[in-house]
Amino acid sequence: MKMFDVYPRYDIDPVRGLGSWIWDQEGQKYLDFYGGHAVISIGHSHPHYIDRVQYQLRQLGFYSNSVQMPIQDELSQKLGEMSGYTDYELFLCNSGAEAIENALKVASFHTKRSKTIVFENAFHGRTSLAVTATDTTKLIAPINQNDRFIRVKLNDLEAVAQCLDASVAAVLIEGIQGVGGIQVPDDAFLKELKLLCKQNGSLLIVDEIQSGYGRTGKFFAHQYAQVEPDLITIAKGMGNGFPIGGVLIHPDIKAWSGMLGTTFGGNHLACAAGLAVLEVIESEELINHVNFMGDLLWKALGSLENLVQIRGRGLMIGLDLTGDSKPFRHSLLEEQHVFVGSAAQSNTVRLLPPLGVSQEELVVFLEAFKKVGYA
Ligand SMILES: Cc1ncc(COP(=O)(O)O)c(C=O)c1O
Repeated sequence: MKMFDVYPRYDIDPVRGLGSWIWDQEGQKYLDFYGGHAVISIGHSHPHYIDRVQYQLRQLGFYSNSVQMPIQDELSQKLGEMSGYTDYELFLCNSGAEAIENALKVASFHTKRSKTIVFENAFHGRTSLAVTATDTTKLIAPINQNDRFIRVKLNDLEAVAQCLDASVAAVLIEGIQGVGGIQVPDDAFLKELKLLCKQNGSLLIVDEIQSGYGRTGKFFAHQYAQVEPDLITIAKGMGNGFPIGGVLIHPDIKAWSGMLGTTFGGNHLACAAGLAVLEVIESEELINHVNFMGDLLWKALGSLENLVQIRGRGLMIGLDLTGDSKPFRHSLLEEQHVFVGSAAQSNTVRLLPPLGVSQEELVVFLEAFKKVGYA
């Protein structure tokens, strides 16, 4: 049997990772400024992560949600403390798209409404509802098509206000748009959005799947705007590669038995991985580190010529080149052995390094960047 061929892949076969680096079969070393698509938060093969997951696997890898699971309470407690959302409740699942599906479902159950306002350029995943919330028509199969999403321009409050009516359960917005090319919602826009939602009896869902877990220099990107969403979706950096996702749910929203569910969500091993990530973010003060490294990187990038624009926050950065970024990204990888990400716009490069990236690694990155010819 062959693999169903849906991924355009680089001709590289990584076999080992450590911190910000991965190695291929031949022993060639690569600097990872893509983090496996914003997934690697605490770095590849972090020793505490390995110990925590290994220990849990030896104890008990999995049991279903039909039993008491104190490790889930431990995870939700720690996440509440570190994110500042101590009074919210946590639902655990396995991926970003699943977190989005569940957040939309909770909003719909709670408001008894069925429509959601979403934004141009948004990416929320590929499952049935998440894919129609996503702004890429070609990903939507006929079976996914529905009229439950209303799409407006990012930062256009007037457009949101015009669409908000008694049918709207929620407004769904990324903390910072990732796949859409690192587009940052204005702080004032987010604040007003929250007010408009409240006035209309709609919920605000912030998708922090890519922008959360310290990547932007705060635990969640929306915390720059000092708004409190009703629902927050998380995944990617939450497990540093272990499949885990979740939804933080405002205490006004009440759970009922059977409202949501999943077989694998919140299993022992996933919780151990999730706890290891939080413990490392805390013990290595990674959010302070992101602010420090982010400042250095932004300053250095600001002095490069031929960059049309730099967007983002902390270590979630979008760079617009003057032309197509594809040949640039390929040269960076093949000649300089540096991974970066692409985005919906062909001229954008996305930088999503592990949060513990060092100053020396920034220098390696910048030298490689210059050698390829964009400075
Ligand atoms: C903002 C955002 N939401 C949702 C998703 C979907 O996550 P997953 O691929 O884990 O389903 C992604 C994935 O890139 C994302 O960036």
